[in-house]
Amino acid sequence: MFAKNVDMNQQNGCGKCPACNEWNTFFEQKLDDKSVKNKKEGKDVSSISLKNVEYKEISRLSTGFGELDRVLGGGLVDGSLILIGGEPGIGKSTLILQICDKIKTQKTVLYVSGEESAEQIKLRADRLKIDKNNIMFFGETDIDLIESEIEKQNPELVIIDSIQTIYSDKVDSMPGSTSQLREITSRIMRMCKEKNVTTIIIGHVTKDGNIAGPRVLEHMVDVVLYLEGERYLSYRVLRGVKNRFGSTNEIGMFEMEGEGMKEILNPSEVLISEGDENPAGSVIVSTMEGTRPLLVELQALTTNTLFGFPRRTANGIDFNRLTLLMAVIEKRAGINLSNQDAYLNVVGGIRINEPGIDLGIILSVCSSYKNKSIPNDIVVIGEVGLTRRS
Ligand code: TYD
Ligand code: MG
Repeated sequence: MFAKNVDMNQQNGCGKCPACNEWNTFFEQKLDDKSVKNKKEGKDVSSISLKNVEYKEISRLSTGFGELDRVLGGGLVDGSLILIGGEPGIGKSTLILQICDKIKTQKTVLYVSGEESAEQIKLRADRLKIDKNNIMFFGETDIDLIESEIEKQNPELVIIDSIQTIYSDKVDSMPGSTSQLREITSRIMRMCKEKNVTTIIIGHVTKDGNIAGPRVLEHMVDVVLYLEGERYLSYRVLRGVKNRFGSTNEIGMFEMEGEGMKEILNPSEVLISEGDENPAGSVIVSTMEGTRPLLVELQALTTNTLFGFPRRTANGIDFNRLTLLMAVIEKRAGINLSNQDAYLNVVGGIRINEPGIDLGIILSVCSSYKNKSIPNDIVVIGEVGLTRRS
């Protein structure tokens, strides 16, 4: 309520409450002027020349996974806030629990879970053959209690699994709502910076990008990573989306096995199917993911359209890119595909945005249509435009 809307009682400085109409129940309260307050406390609030700003060398802690360290830009930065998003069941909790085991620290790691019980986490830790005793478990969802536990434990690393389950009773809405997510994350961020505790937040994201989910937090945290992959395939790609301490183009590749996530050191090996000869429709392309070139296999299949309207599906590349390149084939190569269904798939379940695979897409579609195979010792590279230059 604002004092200016109120009929003020001049005599004792009180007012009439517009809700209950009682006099002397409404008081004007001036907000603290922060800058004045800081001046009073003797704080230096003046600006500083950028030239004179000094900083400490960033210290980083290895996660024990080379693939993850590279995506992070060299390891976990002390006091940074990291968001790991991904679909439910993709392997976020598994990967993070393995990190808790692998990082080398004398201090404890505090694993806060609002999703699983201590027994469930212990069962997973046994399955992953984790026997370190510096991992502390805290099964709580109230941010006030979580904060005081962090204060008490003073850990090296804090895991919040997952942000959607944590709540603050200062916000009325349900856990997982946008206002709760914002409040919780800003509290965690403040604590993480004040105490210099590295914190990893896990957040569930649905395939369509779920706007009300962790994506609303991306601007608040230092690093955003997404764990992607097809649930029925064992390969997982960890992609950097934002990184205040490094490049965002890097990807890390993992395989989900019976004993947790295993890093794949040479991804090209698993992204190209084995065999002496390429079948028709299969083409090997090269894509640049961060600092690392990857060889990937594309597979296309064209068949006669049965019901008049041709179907096209694309797995791992943009659907519109496929239809555009098929239009280029029709117009520039004179091949009629209007009576052909076309399916295109990237082997291994990874997603490619590299424009240099355009020519590979065209050749794989043509190879399937003509039923002519392309030798498997050829890598196809080239971006394709719409027009022809004479
Ligand atoms: P989980 O890490 O719980 O996923 P998230 O935290 O992203 O929801 O992973 C769950 C799936 O991973 C589950 O289907 C079982 C599988 N899994 C393995 O294949 N191997 C393992 O060693 C573990 C622990 C889980
Ligand atoms: Mg989980």
